[in-house]
Amino acid sequence: MGEGFEGRRALETARRLGAVASGDEIRAVYEREAPAYDRGQWIPERLLLGRLRRRLLTRASGRVLEVGIGTGVNLPFYAPRCPIVGVDLSRPMLERALARAYRLGRQVVVEVVDGEALAFPDRSFDTVVSTLTLCTTPDPLRLLREMGRVCRPTGRVLLMEHGLGTRPLVNWLLHRLEPGQLAKYACHLTRDVAVLPPQAGLRVLNQERWLFGVLALIEAAPNHLPG
Ligand SMILES: C[S@@+](CC[C@H](N)C(=O)[O-])C[C@H]1O[C@@H](n2cnc3c(N)ncnc32)[C@H](O)[C@@H]1O
Repeated sequence: MGEGFEGRRALETARRLGAVASGDEIRAVYEREAPAYDRGQWIPERLLLGRLRRRLLTRASGRVLEVGIGTGVNLPFYAPRCPIVGVDLSRPMLERALARAYRLGRQVVVEVVDGEALAFPDRSFDTVVSTLTLCTTPDPLRLLREMGRVCRPTGRVLLMEHGLGTRPLVNWLLHRLEPGQLAKYACHLTRDVAVLPPQAGLRVLNQERWLFGVLALIEAAPNHLPG
């Protein structure tokens, strides 16, 4: 209890200073939020997110890496024959992903690993996935570069992320709501998710925007140099 309070105070101080949450702060947030995460997402998942996850992840194939796998909400949407590795900063989130995998009868390997410094060789996965993680990670460009690095040249990077929308009024609202979301979930509401993948050297093959552009489904390919 005391630790959660201290973690939150540290995060609020960081917000006041205009800093981005560190990996340790994000870990503290999701250690606190893990027990309630699925319950909190129940309505958005049923209204829209579940449908978008299914739509995105039908494109996953082969050996899959999911970065920021959280409680494993995406697991039901992968083809049963895809071997899945999931990484996250938060052990309690990963414990829930493992429990979900068990309930689904799926074999999943999970590890506490920072997605911005993946401990996997170059070109070792066919599909690399992130959903609702670019908003939280300290440096989204580093995360995307790492995703591209570990993706095979013929593979795919699949993203379902939220950020700035396409309407000024919506973006005004997002800016107003952002401090609260940062303090509670270390979640940025105003990152420009459409421009990040090309900046990280990924080739965007397909992009769909939902909910006034706030949610983006992105299919990209890595842009490896030959050799
Ligand atoms: C909002 S939750 C999303 C969870 C899940 N991907 C989903 O779609 O429901 C963000 C998750 O990303 C994790 N995360 C944030 N930054 C990370 C990083 N750099 N490396 C690994 N995990 C990270 C958090 O610990 C948390 O579990």
